[in-house]
Amino acid sequence: MPRLIFPLFVLCLLLPGPGAARAADDRELVKLPAMMQEHMLSNMRDHLRALDEIFLALAEDRASDAAKVAERRLGMSSLDSHGADHLAPFMPGTMKAFGTAMHRAASRFARAIETADIEPSPKTQRAIYAAFQEITANCTGCHQAYRIR
Ligand code: HEC
Repeated sequence: MPRLIFPLFVLCLLLPGPGAARAADDRELVKLPAMMQEHMLSNMRDHLRALDEIFLALAEDRASDAAKVAERRLGMSSLDSHGADHLAPFMPGTMKAFGTAMHRAASRFARAIETADIEPSPKTQRAIYAAFQEITANCTGCHQAYRIR
């Protein structure tokens, strides 16, 4: 019988206890006024919709539409329409940095799409993927670090 005790002890250590899923959420809470919170979430939903529209355009061989959506809805040109000036003062420095890096990456992504359209090659194609991954790295980086509710 005592021979059973050690394996049982190990098993207890491995099983997730109550609240294990919640303990995994160590994102920092950034408090925003209610209107800003709504505004930011609606921006976010538009970010995801923009990615969807970009890939639809790429799949349908409409590179210039894809580049336009990337620049205007996610890139540096999107900052005004997203009210970035109003949101920025509420954000911690690192959060702002994720946002800025995401907008810069999206502008590079737009240029990479245009370049691949003019000079199609495996290299310019890979550059599109690399630029896209720089965008999503900043989406996920910020999502893992911060929450607003
Ligand atoms: C500067 C930080 C930051 C960046 C960059 C960022 N997000 Fe978010 N996003 C957040 C936060 C914070 C939330 C809200 C999380 C919470 O509190 O629930 C959020 C929520 C969302 C939501 C849920 C919206 C809702 O209505 O619930 C979507 C979708 C989303 N983000 C998509 C994206 C996509 C796609 C990108 C990249 C193109 C992106 N986000 C980049 C910070 C960011």
